[in-house]
Amino acid sequence: MNKLFEWSDDYCVGEKTIDSQHKYLFEKGNEISSISKDNVKRHIMDLYTYVAKHFTYEEKHMKSIGFPYVAEHARIHESIIEDLAKKSEAFDPTWENIIDFQVFILTWISDHIMIEDKKYFDYSKKLKR
Ligand SMILES: [Fe+2]
Ligand SMILES: [Fe+2]
Repeated sequence: MNKLFEWSDDYCVGEKTIDSQHKYLFEKGNEISSISKDNVKRHIMDLYTYVAKHFTYEEKHMKSIGFPYVAEHARIHESIIEDLAKKSEAFDPTWENIIDFQVFILTWISDHIMIEDKKYFDYSKKLKR
């Protein structure tokens, strides 16, 4: 299938592991609509687990560079996790719900990276000057 969101270097935030985690999230998000209905819930739960791990890693990274808005960023992560938990736990794998979920997760990933994650990237660039 066509990818809804293609990874590009515009999404880079300057930390190798985080960039590869973001890339992986795009891949997993793009795969949702090509997974069989029987397996899609499992896929979504795996994605949820991965997102949670990614957030933990990212928060550690922000702390390590002394980014001053870690608490605010962590609160955004928390509300995403709550949304994701609600959506994935009660997931009914109709075709319409699968596509809805896919659009939700990919839009969220790209918006969050470009708006929120870019803030610590900008901060880390200032440190290097
Ligand atoms: Fe992120
Ligand atoms: Fe983030």
